[in-house]
This record gives sequence, structure tokens and C-alpha cells, in this order.
Amino acid sequence: MHPTPWREAWSDALYGPDGFFLRERPADHFRTSVAASPVFATAVRRLAGLVDDALGRPDPFDVVDVGAGRGELLSSLPDVPVRWRLTGVELAASPGGPLGWSSSVPPVEGLLFSNEWLDDVPLDVLFDGRVVEVSASGQESLGGPASAEALEWAARWWPQGRRVEVGLARDQAWAAAVGQVRRGLAVAVDYGHVLGDRGTWGDRRPTLTGWLRGRPVHPVPDGSCDITAHVALDSLQGRLVSQQEALGVLGIRSEPPPRSLADTDPRGYLSLLASAASATELMDRRGLGAYGWVVVPVGIDDPLVGSPG
Ligand SMILES: C[S@@+](CC[C@H](N)C(=O)[O-])C[C@H]1O[C@@H](n2cnc3c(N)ncnc32)[C@H](O)[C@@H]1O
Repeated sequence: MHPTPWREAWSDALYGPDGFFLRERPADHFRTSVAASPVFATAVRRLAGLVDDALGRPDPFDVVDVGAGRGELLSSLPDVPVRWRLTGVELAASPGGPLGWSSSVPPVEGLLFSNEWLDDVPLDVLFDGRVVEVSASGQESLGGPASAEALEWAARWWPQGRRVEVGLARDQAWAAAVGQVRRGLAVAVDYGHVLGDRGTWGDRRPTLTGWLRGRPVHPVPDGSCDITAHVALDSLQGRLVSQQEALGVLGIRSEPPPRSLADTDPRGYLSLLASAASATELMDRRGLGAYGWVVVPVGIDDPLVGSPG
């Protein structure tokens, strides 16, 4: 393969014929919040309930998961009313079973949610205003000048540093998904950075990396590994809150229950203790708790604004 711009090579490697994500199960390669703890599905279920109430409980009420993997999040939502219509949006094949499945985002009246989708949306990489190209073996070279819109994005969102991961393709993919929400809420959860972080990075290679079986690897765009780059969260449409804050507003607690409960309700105590332990992992500011939730309400008040409930 001749060197091609990162965005094309990355796209073929993950989503082309026999691409990594069409072949592999994401959960075999990384531990997302979905896999880390059932508490995450409990929080998403609560959020969907708030949106359902705000919309006056329509029939059907949509819960759409973009980049749904094998439907793990939707399948683990507790106490789903029969009125709710659950749909996974994926480029990979349907896992079968009762979930709706689509390769594109349908119109949504309800909650559109995505966890760790956007970091896997391929982007352009620039160096000194030129497009960085890559060979099938992962060798980089410099191509032609970047497009005017890529340069404009870089000037606005990544003004310092010679190497830029241009978030424009993610901004556009997210805006298109949000555009499908007729009424309700759109939420994108991912790891990422904001302008202030990028300003401190200088010229060192930022975040593009490969990922395989739980470990970072050299990003070789031959379909052998995931390729990912952190998300420029502040250039996406929406309000940004941390996962720690969002889960707090949804009533997730990482503090252990009072010890006295063990005497009166030992089973209840143990169950709350287990939930608190997994909530700790989801809300830890040095890990999953630092992930960003980008929130866009459509025709309703933002249910994630408010005192921790
Ligand atoms: C890192 S996995 C996340 C899986 C799951 N959401 C989780 O949190 O465990 C990213 C998923 O996004 C999917 N994906 C990427 N681009 C997509 C697109 N344009 N439409 C639908 N799915 C997409 C990939 O196929 C992959 O399964």
C-alpha cells in the first residue's frame, strides 16, 4: 500500500473489508465503563428514565446506543419498560436477539447515547500544515498541504504544537448523530482533552495509538489492532461534564454504606458495598471518572444539570 492520509488508512484498517471492528469484539480488547461495572448501565437506565419523564413517556421511547459493540450496554439496562425501543447502531453485524440493530443512526425520540465511539472515528493528522500519511507497516511520511477546513479547525482548536489531530471528522459525525434526535437527549462519553491540555503538549506526538488485547501497541493500519486517538471534547457540540459529575447527578455513590446497616440488613449492606466498590472505579478522577460526557438536550431541559441526586 502506498502511503495514504491517516484518516483513509485508519478507516480501511478498522471498517474496511475484514476491518478490525467488523471482525473483533471490542470487549476482548479493552475494558470500557460498560464492561467495568453494571453500575454504569444502572446510571444510563436512570438517565433514560429522566428523559422519558421529560418527554411525557412517549410510545415508543427510543434508547439508541451508537458504537454499540455487541449490544452489551443495551442488554444490561435493568427494568426496561415494554414501551422502550432499544437500538444498537454499529458497523459490525448484529449479535442477534431482541435488540434493534442498524448501521446508521435512526430518528430518535428519547436518549441517544454513545460510549467510546468517537475515539474510534478516524481523523486527519497534520504536521506543519501538511497531511501526515502512513504506510501499511505504520511508517509515516509527509503528504500535501491540508485542506482549508482542516487548517481552520487546527487554528481554532489546536493552535500550539506542530502535530495536530484534527477533530473535524468527529465534530461532524457527532453533529450528524445529534441531528437525528427529534426530542430528547444526546450524550457522547469518551476520553479526551480540551484546549488547555493541548496547549501544554508542545511538539511531542499526541495521542494516536494502537490497542490490542488490553495493551497499547504501535498504530499499524493493517487491520491487526484498534487505532484510536483521544477526543477533542471541547470542539464537539454540547456541554461538557466529567463522568464523575454526571454519575453523581444520577445518584451513583462511591462511599461505602454505613457499617451499622450490616447488623440490620446484611444482604443489603453487601450489595451496597459491592456497588460502591464498582462506582469507585467509574468515578475515579485518575481513570474513568475523568472521561467527558458531552451533553445535548433537544426540546427538554438538561437532566444532568442539578445537584447530585
Ligand atoms: C471502542 S468500541 C466501544 C464499544 C461499546 N460502546 C463499549 O463502550 O464497550 C467502538 C465501537 O464503535 C463502532 N463504530 C465506529 N464507528 C461507527 C459508526 N460510524 N457507526 C456505528 N458504529 C461505529 C465500532 O465498530 C466499535 O464497535
